Amino acid sequence: MPCRARFGNCMAEQERQRLFFALWPDEAVRRQLAGYSALLEGCGGRLVATENLHITLAFLGSVDGGTRQCLEQAADEIVTPPFTLQLDQLGFWRRPQVVWLGAEDTPAPLHALAAAMKRVMIGCDLEPDERPFQAHMTLMRKARRAPLKSSVEPLLWHIDDFALVHSETHSEGVHYEVLRRWGLK
Ligand code: 2AM
Repeated sequence: MPCRARFGNCMAEQERQRLFFALWPDEAVRRQLAGYSALLEGCGGRLVATENLHITLAFLGSVDGGTRQCLEQAADEIVTPPFTLQLDQLGFWRRPQVVWLGAEDTPAPLHALAAAMKRVMIGCDLEPDERPFQAHMTLMRKARRAPLKSSVEPLLWHIDDFALVHSETHSEGVHYEVLRRWGLK
């Protein structure tokens, strides 16, 4: 029987979406993050738009509707307490050519959340990244040089939820849409 999305629950037949789970800053944190761009002037790359800044918890790739449903149901079961992340380090990865903002110390609940994400992916037949989770917020792409300073004025970000985000690439650049949020508990 054909899928009639308006009437039936036939997500599996809907088009694929490029998705990721992320920590998604609120406007107040975004305003503070914008202040770090001045430190990257000599790095030679392209700044990520302030409204696009985030920390990826798990990149899910292009998933179909059934897999999205599975991921959302599994995310409902995640139990991790809220925590505060202190962003205080700038770093440069030469091969992907990114400058990032990260944390000298990764709080235990963030490690737990990232580990839960890997289990969610495996439970939905996706292959998680094998590399250990390294919390980072990409500030600049196509960067050619590291920032002059690696330690920066700390930004304290209180995190009490995570988001499922849809990524779409247009000629003007990438557009991210938060599809759903889960409160930490
Ligand atoms: P990055 O910030 O380190 O580039 C949306 O594309 C998010 O998913 C980005 O923040 C990106 O992380 C992350 N991501 C992880 N693996 C990816 C991949 N293979 N392709 C695109 N984005 C990926």
